[in-house]
Amino acid sequence: MRLAQRIVRSKASPTTAFIPLLRQLRQAGTDVLNLAIGEPEFATPASVVTATAQALQDGFTRYDAAGGVTALRQRLAADFEGLGAENIVVTNGAKQALFSIFQTICDPGDEVILPVPCWVSFTAQVRLAGAEAVSVACRGDHQLDMAAIARAISPRTRAIVVNSPNNPTGAVYPRQTFADLASLARENDFYLVADEAYRDFVYPPHKAFDPWRLADIRDRLIVVRSFSKTAAMTGFRVGYVAAAGDLARALERLQSHLCGNVCTFAQYGALAAAGEAPWLKTWLAKLDERRRYAYAQATALFDCVPPQGAFYLFPDVRRRLAKGQSSHDFAMELLRQTGVAMVPGEAFGTPGHVRICYAVSAETLAEAFARLRKHL
Ligand SMILES: Cc1ncc(COP(=O)(O)O)c(C=O)c1O
Repeated sequence: MRLAQRIVRSKASPTTAFIPLLRQLRQAGTDVLNLAIGEPEFATPASVVTATAQALQDGFTRYDAAGGVTALRQRLAADFEGLGAENIVVTNGAKQALFSIFQTICDPGDEVILPVPCWVSFTAQVRLAGAEAVSVACRGDHQLDMAAIARAISPRTRAIVVNSPNNPTGAVYPRQTFADLASLARENDFYLVADEAYRDFVYPPHKAFDPWRLADIRDRLIVVRSFSKTAAMTGFRVGYVAAAGDLARALERLQSHLCGNVCTFAQYGALAAAGEAPWLKTWLAKLDERRRYAYAQATALFDCVPPQGAFYLFPDVRRRLAKGQSSHDFAMELLRQTGVAMVPGEAFGTPGHVRICYAVSAETLAEAFARLRKHL
């Protein structure tokens, strides 16, 4: 039977597609070291698990409002000056938040600017909304190329997606970048979609800038956040959108037909994770140590820009490629010959690179780099 063209044209998320491949290799006896994952190795905090179990026992097992349970929306809105609970929509992770945003703001033929390298799903999600993804390469230091972004704007531009701290590069953008983007968005009448999935993962002396502080952009700023990384809750599937005006209501309308509310008791788990996150201090100290170690190891093998946030390195591996070899082939060669799994740069729109996740145990990281050194 025939499938819809938009689905035929789309490909499965390359990072998600990795999971069965790794399982297969493990079953075949390969000792796989997984640096391809996008989640911290830490356990979900006990307070979150307890609150979720309590919510289950208290009977929060029913349908609720499509936009999310009121207590959670109220708590989340408190972080956005000028917004109320009605401006928050709780979604099945940041992933569904972004999918719904593109469905809500794009008509066929519209354009969304994506600075690349970028997270694997942006391009597919924009296309599934019938819009065109306009890729703009970042600078060599992984910061945004504002002149190239300005050149990419057209009368059809509906939004630019800004992901800071960035997956896969680890770049963190300063206030000036957001201020410049805000000017472009106002002058050319488009939205600024800020994907803040990694907002809590920034290493000193770097600091994440919160674009909501720019009061004059709030009418066209759409903020996406998630509990997945911040509280090691990837399997809970809880994220949210914060937006002024009618946008949250429109998103809630879409959600009422798409999936209804996010799992009710998972939202109570998220409520326990909202606000103070005492676990983050220890996590960040550990991750910073691994970031420094991984960067030192990676620069000995590849060309690498030091990451400022998130938990990835995105080295340029071109000087290691055999003639005609792509970074995808290279990553597969390393996986088969060393058991070290990394995501090829093609998945992020930037061939010639690989993404290494360093949010694994110190032992795994040391063993992985030892194998890579030996092989290369
Ligand atoms: C940049 C970015 N945005 C969004 C997401 C989606 O996160 P989730 O749906 O788990 O909240 C991810 C997940 O890896 C990501 O890296």
